[in-house]
Amino acid sequence: MRVAFGNLGGVQTYLVTGGAGFIGSHLCDRLLAEGKRVIAVDDLSQGRIANLSEARGYDKQFGLVNMDVRVESLRAEFERERPEVVMHLAAQVSVTASVSDPAHDASVNLMGLLNVLEAAASTGARKVVFAASGGTLYGEVRRFPVKETARRGSHPVSPYGISKKAAEDYLAFYQRTRGLDYTSLALANVYGPRQDPHGEAGVVAIFASKMLAGEPPTIFGDGEQTRDFVYVDDVVDAFARAAERGSGALANIGTAVETSVNEVFKLLGRSLGYRGQAVHAPSRAGELLRSALDHSLAERELGWKPWTPIKDGLKATADAFRAAR
Ligand SMILES: NC(=O)c1ccc[n+]([C@@H]2O[C@H](COP(=O)([O-])OP(=O)(O)OC[C@H]3O[C@@H](n4cnc5c(N)ncnc54)[C@H](O)[C@@H]3O)[C@@H](O)[C@H]2O)c1
Repeated sequence: MRVAFGNLGGVQTYLVTGGAGFIGSHLCDRLLAEGKRVIAVDDLSQGRIANLSEARGYDKQFGLVNMDVRVESLRAEFERERPEVVMHLAAQVSVTASVSDPAHDASVNLMGLLNVLEAAASTGARKVVFAASGGTLYGEVRRFPVKETARRGSHPVSPYGISKKAAEDYLAFYQRTRGLDYTSLALANVYGPRQDPHGEAGVVAIFASKMLAGEPPTIFGDGEQTRDFVYVDDVVDAFARAAERGSGALANIGTAVETSVNEVFKLLGRSLGYRGQAVHAPSRAGELLRSALDHSLAERELGWKPWTPIKDGLKATADAFRAAR
């Protein structure tokens, strides 16, 4: 399927892979609101057309290409659309799936990336902004909040983290040899409206949908494990800034604030009027006890800072999940 465009001469074209997904669809909305022409490329394996209902309202300024980023014909799409900037978010996103099938993870997350980089470099794109993963890239760390320098000598524990780490070297290779600029954003735990409540990692989405169904959410371990929760609008702001700044940088996109799973349960419960208890289950093997990312490099390189306090972000997410039921 391909949705045709009109000619919008003079307007910058951005291509967003994974554009029908959680973060990608919010990014499409933001870029469209800025007046960019946006092409979302997504195979809809996880993403949903419904996530693009705002974007489609932009009519000729927006288009969706239903395509796997690994196929040869991606190049023809780039030749036709000539994007100036490519936001690469399409990925196999499950850590667990990457452990049980590392080859599939590498096929999407590395061969898919290389196909995108090759198409971008050979059709004159200026820049690629890449969605890396701050929670897995650095492996096991001792000092919090984690700085980007922890990448040196890090050993990611999952194939997902390994592919996200290897991606950095490919991005640098294309910059050096083909003049394709890049910025890599190491995202913390992103949450917000449209997150898939059936995924494995989106604790906010999972808790919100359980609470709305009147079912008790499950807390693994004692619930005192912490994560760095960053609101999706703030993440999208970082992508938009990275189109023009942060050449060749790996930048953490997180809040540096640790919030426990118990705290998320409490705050969300308050927003949704959920009075039940949580079910407790044993901790999951390999689960990190703490996570928080230092964002001072993003502040320097991109002029980016986290903006949304977790209470406000959770409330907005709770409202959106309630409205979508
Ligand atoms: N959500 C987070 O907390 C988080 C944290 C760190 C990094 N990231 C990264 O951010 C990006 C977006 O994640 P998300 O949370 O929005 O997940 P998501 O699953 O909602 O989005 C990924 C999108 O990619 C699409 N896709 C998957 N394989 C594809 C393929 N072969 N060809 C074309 N499209 C394909 C899916 O259909 C989906 O729409 C990913 O690269 C992910 O690794 C996310």
